[in-house]
Amino acid sequence: MAQILDGKKLREKILESLKSKVEKFQTKPTLVVILAGDNPASKIYVNNKKKTAEKLGINSQVINYPADVTENELLSKIEELNNDNSVTAILVQLPLPEHISKENIIDAISPQKDVDGFTPYNFGRLFSGEEPIVYPCTPKGILLLLDEYNIEIEGKHAVVIGRSNIVGRPMAQMLLKRNATVTMCHSKTKNLAQITKTADIIISAAGKNIIKGEILKSDCVVVDVGIFKDENGKTRGDVDFDSASQICSYISPVPGGVGPMTITSLMLNTVELFEKSL
Ligand code: GUN
Repeated sequence: MAQILDGKKLREKILESLKSKVEKFQTKPTLVVILAGDNPASKIYVNNKKKTAEKLGINSQVINYPADVTENELLSKIEELNNDNSVTAILVQLPLPEHISKENIIDAISPQKDVDGFTPYNFGRLFSGEEPIVYPCTPKGILLLLDEYNIEIEGKHAVVIGRSNIVGRPMAQMLLKRNATVTMCHSKTKNLAQITKTADIIISAAGKNIIKGEILKSDCVVVDVGIFKDENGKTRGDVDFDSASQICSYISPVPGGVGPMTITSLMLNTVELFEKSL
């Protein structure tokens, strides 16, 4: 039976030390979250971010826009926040309404306040093997979780499933930086099971229930980034926990694995940007 990669437990440990760090600051970090439209999942995520920040003594503000907000309105708000010295971190919640160019919006954020690490400067640094100002939250949280359980990365075959800018692409780069041998799989990959059978570490961010025990190598490590409701309204991930946990050595549960680590990384990044701004 696999050991659980407990994201909730690690979140509590990291947030506790972050709270005492923030208490010692003369002025406090300020995180501004822009939420456009009324995607129900985004509303929950944004609310959690705000609540967690407040618990740590980090100032946080959510700016809500209706789904028909114009790109120019968002761009001028971002410019205002870039120029406001009291704002130390900016996050634009994704997805944005369809008529808005995600690229234009992200490009407008000052790299020094880019708490997601998504701007071209930070992504460019990451993809050229340099240090970005901060690392994207979900992959950063996954590495913190693997490190907490002393899971070796160097020289291992890591298979990343999903090529989003939020998870898959930066995850692959970060694993590469840690000297893993990285394979990227996605919706057009033909021989997924053949590839996963050779994986020491699998990071699955497909958004579909695709990982069953039978496609895993024994004693591998499985990180489940997927989160969605099944037809019975039950929260599920990409991994069939019951069959996978019979084969692998470590597994992250859904919920309680990667989700808490993403928010933990966001708080770490908020504090890092603040410290760099001093
Ligand atoms: N939507 C889902 N995950 C994320 C994230 O990590 N950052 C932002 N900005 N939006 C998201």
